[in-house]
Amino acid sequence: MKITINCAMSADGKIALNSRKQTDISNEPDKKRVHEMRNSVDAILVGIGTVLTDDPKLTVKEKYVHNPQNPIRIVLDSRGRTPPHAKVLNGEAKTVIVTAEECTKEFPNAETIRCGSGRIDIQRLALMLEERGIRSMLVEGGAEVIWSFLKTRLADEMLIFIGSMVIGGDSSPTPAGGTGASAMNEVVELRLRNAEVVGDGVLVEYEVVK
Ligand SMILES: NC(=O)c1ccc[n+]([C@@H]2O[C@H](COP(=O)([O-])OP(=O)(O)OC[C@H]3O[C@@H](n4cnc5c(N)ncnc54)[C@H](OP(=O)(O)O)[C@@H]3O)[C@@H](O)[C@H]2O)c1
Repeated sequence: MKITINCAMSADGKIALNSRKQTDISNEPDKKRVHEMRNSVDAILVGIGTVLTDDPKLTVKEKYVHNPQNPIRIVLDSRGRTPPHAKVLNGEAKTVIVTAEECTKEFPNAETIRCGSGRIDIQRLALMLEERGIRSMLVEGGAEVIWSFLKTRLADEMLIFIGSMVIGGDSSPTPAGGTGASAMNEVVELRLRNAEVVGDGVLVEYEVVK
């Protein structure tokens, strides 16, 4: 399966406000690019942190794509904390909530996959999704989930849109959170593929070195 990480960050490398609340970093041409990318993949994945802070719909907007095809929405949610009123459960597209095996919760308008003990085992999950015919997946965040996909080298590429703004703050999240690297051999190497001006921002494309 081809796995693409996409995120938007400020010029100082932050992906949200210091409260972790979402802010508009992307510009119009970048939003169009993201919605076209959503329209072209089989699945789109986020972590429960993003669902709880941003409550995204994760659908393709008709404003950007004619005749949109919504990908399957996947949420990594070990303990089943997705609120029943979350927009990912609005029935507008197929949704899969992935929980740990110990979790017994079910969700309206969604299928549940149990995978891994305590925490979701994303390597096993990738195999399970492949068995279901998912060939391409967009990982849209947040910070902890992006780190997991980089650390395991499951991600093939990472696309970062850099918006022309500074958010600042020691605690504002960055594209990759989680535990991070504690030694040089844990650093995830990237290969620069392209960088281009997109409106008033810059899109940088990397391949993940495996
Ligand atoms: N600018 C952008 O492009 C963008 C996009 C999306 C989000 N964001 C921002 O990112 C922030 C949210 O990021 P976050 O780091 O707090 O949360 P997150 O990455 O969305 O979700 C992390 C949670 O997912 C669950 N999870 C289950 N299995 C996992 C695994 N194998 N690896 C990693 N996580 C796993 C864990 O909770 P459990 O243990 O309970 O399962 C974990 O705490 C918000 O501030 C949001 O605004 C920005």
